[in-house]
Amino acid sequence: MMKQGLILINAYTQSEAELNQPKRLREELARLGVLVNIVRNGPSALEAEGDFCVFLDKDKYAARALERRMRLFNRAEAVETCDDKMLTYLALDGISQPETVSSRLCYTAGAPIDGKFLDEVEGRLGYPVVVKENHGSLGGQVYLARDRAELSKLAARLQYVPHLYQKFIAESSGRDVRVICVGGEVVACMQRTNARDFRSNLAAGGRGERCEADAAMRRLAQEVCARLDLDYCGIDLLLSKEGYLVCEVNSNAFFGGIEQVTGVNVAATYADHIFTEMYKK
Ligand SMILES: Nc1ncnc2c1ncn2[C@@H]1O[C@H](COP(=O)(O)OP(=O)(O)O)[C@@H](O)[C@H]1O
Ligand SMILES: [Mg+2]
Repeated sequence: MMKQGLILINAYTQSEAELNQPKRLREELARLGVLVNIVRNGPSALEAEGDFCVFLDKDKYAARALERRMRLFNRAEAVETCDDKMLTYLALDGISQPETVSSRLCYTAGAPIDGKFLDEVEGRLGYPVVVKENHGSLGGQVYLARDRAELSKLAARLQYVPHLYQKFIAESSGRDVRVICVGGEVVACMQRTNARDFRSNLAAGGRGERCEADAAMRRLAQEVCARLDLDYCGIDLLLSKEGYLVCEVNSNAFFGGIEQVTGVNVAATYADHIFTEMYKK
């Protein structure tokens, strides 16, 4: 039987980084004798033939539709949970994370911002406080409020956008560790630092350096992958005085940057994992 799969990408994807990821995976799967079609999200893509789909979009509707017919890497529920930082926080209950307060969803046009709620947020989390939109990536939707005025302004701007408030881990400002996991194990690890911004994302000007994952990082990463049932992910770890804290989990983490920094062939490792899951079990 011919082995064949799909790689589904976002309907609007244009950037080289986003287009490189599916090509590299296709190449590594071809090396294993698996024929892979790269398709853009849409009605025909959802009807395409394949034994499995590497789902590089975050469209939870498409993921559910496709999962009725084939094995998804990552699974639909994992993609959905990771795409929403508040859902991730809730799913990781009991695993070390910075203290977090959810925004309250607002469905009422012109409703005033509730000062008592902001009193609670500042009482629990202090200043500066991190504010994140639940959907965001590359540091683009993550903010820092240094005082009440900035907090009020952000709360007003995000009134109709689901978001969260999070304890700022000062020791980790501009510094975190990104680990890539495949099949529940850390396969690549880099420390990221940014001298000019508290966000250490490479896209926000952070610099990556290869580092060794220690036992505590590996254990934490294993726990996260098992809890969320992830085949592949990038986990951001903050470095707090009390140890590592899970900052966020990316089910669709780009691997181009970390491959360059660490020399690890992440695409090949992921392709091997998919092959084992699909054809060797
Ligand atoms: N609670 C926090 N304390 C200190 N720094 C943080 C905190 N949360 C996020 N950061 C910094 O901001 C960056 C982006 O936040 P993250 O939650 O990973 O969102 P994104 O999806 O945009 O990468 C992190 O890599 C980290 O450097
Ligand atoms: Mg991140």
